[in-house]
Amino acid sequence: MQRFAIIGYPLKHSFSPLIHNRAFADLNMDAHYEKIEIAPEEFEREVERLKNSDFVGFNVTIPYKERIIPFVDQLSAEAVKIGALNTVKKIGKEWHGFNTDWIGFLKPLEKFSSSIKRCLLLGAGGAARGVFFALLHLPELQRIVLSNRTLKRAEELANQFRPFGQKTICVSDFESLLNMNERFDLIVNTTSVGMSGHNQTILLEPERVAHSKTVVYDLIYNPLKTILLKRAEERGLTTINGLPMLIYQAEEAFKIWTGRGFAEKTRTYLFDELPG
Ligand code: ATR
Repeated sequence: MQRFAIIGYPLKHSFSPLIHNRAFADLNMDAHYEKIEIAPEEFEREVERLKNSDFVGFNVTIPYKERIIPFVDQLSAEAVKIGALNTVKKIGKEWHGFNTDWIGFLKPLEKFSSSIKRCLLLGAGGAARGVFFALLHLPELQRIVLSNRTLKRAEELANQFRPFGQKTICVSDFESLLNMNERFDLIVNTTSVGMSGHNQTILLEPERVAHSKTVVYDLIYNPLKTILLKRAEERGLTTINGLPMLIYQAEEAFKIWTGRGFAEKTRTYLFDELPG
């Protein structure tokens, strides 16, 4: 039996074992996926132990997507640019690192991509990095405004990605953003505001920065409808929650490990039944 796991802390609410074990079962594969919760002070020791184990693949999640990098033997070009990985595949004795978060983020946007010229990105933490890299792949996108509570973090993120694209990148705090009176085709929340167990306010009213066709995308999937998405829906805007991204990043990791996509019945289950 092939063994896979997710490494992170905490992992209590992770959907990944459910997703991957369902996918293995639906394809009749002899494989199992488990959770390995590692406390921060034990990280290095535990990862060394895992390097000598029989696990053949991992997902890596918060807060270790950067800290794991020194332990991999090879890193994909995308993971290098993003500066974080979420997938490890064991090839021979070596660990190869990949990032599939950015592909997962782009998939639900495919049908809107030709009309996205201006994007507002909220947040400049770990999650924003994969999203920023993904945005550089939207063919019609011309301008990204990056807004964060801590302006310095937004500037650092913008500087990380300026060399990779032809887009105009602008940095702003929330107050100046509203004064700019700009309207965006896509608004993405990558902050933890609205996440269960975190601050339950709203960073900004979508109508202040949206037009009637704006897509509002929140990476959070717990809850499926954040206050931001509820407010956007009330204004008649198109919304995307974090569940499709979670499922697509998982399927991309699965392809790296097994060379196969999810079975159709796995997708149906994940998209239609899992949310309930
Ligand atoms: P992650 O890896 O999940 O992105 P993170 O690196 O801690 O986590 O980043 C969290 C993001 O949410 C940051 O953009 C953070 O803003 P700061 O850079 O100013 O810390 C943002 N965030 C968290 N709580 C917030 C709040 N109450 N108001 C505004 N932004 C908040």
